[in-house]
Amino acid sequence: MGNTSWIDLKGSYFIISVFLVCFAPACDGGNILVCPLDGSHFTNMKVLLEELHSHGHKLTLMRSNHSWYIEEQSHLYSTIHIPSKFDLKFFGVFLEKQLQAQIEGLASLLFFAPEFISLFKNIHQMWQDDIHYVFNNKTLLKELKDAKYDLMLTDSGGTLGLILAKYLNLPLVLNARWFNALDSHFVFAPSPVSYIPVTGSGFTDKMDFFQRVQNVIHLSFALAHEYLVIPGYNALCEKYVQDGCDIASIMQDADIWLFRSDFVFDFPRPTMPNVVYIGGFQCKPAQPLPAELEDFVQSAGEHGVIIMTMGSLSTDYPVHSLMK
Ligand SMILES: *[C@@H]1O[C@H](CO)[C@@H](O)[C@H](O)[C@H]1NC(C)=O
Ligand SMILES: *[C@@H]1O[C@H](CO)[C@@H](O)[C@H](O)[C@H]1NC(C)=O
Repeated sequence: MGNTSWIDLKGSYFIISVFLVCFAPACDGGNILVCPLDGSHFTNMKVLLEELHSHGHKLTLMRSNHSWYIEEQSHLYSTIHIPSKFDLKFFGVFLEKQLQAQIEGLASLLFFAPEFISLFKNIHQMWQDDIHYVFNNKTLLKELKDAKYDLMLTDSGGTLGLILAKYLNLPLVLNARWFNALDSHFVFAPSPVSYIPVTGSGFTDKMDFFQRVQNVIHLSFALAHEYLVIPGYNALCEKYVQDGCDIASIMQDADIWLFRSDFVFDFPRPTMPNVVYIGGFQCKPAQPLPAELEDFVQSAGEHGVIIMTMGSLSTDYPVHSLMK
């Protein structure tokens, strides 16, 4: 009797296997809408895009024509074009002035303050124009809806992707480090400033009373930025998304935060289970140096060399002022 049931069992396994092979859904890549930010944000995002592309996912990227780093043509993605009347030359001029102000000290910083405020106004105006363009182009909106994307991958520093994800009702994955002037942790996790140093304060998680007071002042500068900027975006949310929305709650509802940091660099702080720390994800196995560089490094002898990098906006940095 044991024997017959074994044969029966094998038969049913066979039938189930054939059934599964014939009727299981085909497994294919996702259809991902990407709204990146420019500059170093994009050099990071590109590493993720390369990985997603190599796994067979289809990527569509929204790119405004004021982009620096986001190529229009790429084998990784197709682009949706957003025309922009802005010319980012003003940003290079800003960097030069900011650096000069940093070198010259506080008085100079105050002197340039109106210019800094006008720069930030320009940047946010540019981003808000992008949002107006997308939501007022009905052809584009219909194309976005019809494309039936599986998820939105965007940067927590930008808002177009957030509002679009809400509008298209897409799961939201954020590539994060900053939200305006604040570390994104301030958006999704309790961040008591009595032991969480605000970026730029230079403090650690162990502060005395006066340092804590200064930490609160640093936080209030960052929050002032939020209070000036965020209502403008919330108004766009109200205008374009049915039933309204606000930027902070869209972010708090995000499905996954890919966080570009690691606790090796940061002090302990509360976090959330949907945060994945991907700090160091850009690192690749070491490669031999080009011969010319290798000779240079070897010529330094036992003293070695120091590498200093200027970040993604280096062509705009006034290197001559730094050399002084
Ligand atoms: C971007 O597109 C707009 C409108 O098509 C155009 O006026 C502008 O000159 C373009 N800017 C750049 C940097 O290509
Ligand atoms: C609206 O979007 C469509 C599709 O992306 C594009 O072909 C068209 O030129 C856009 N219209 C305007 C006025 O920019």
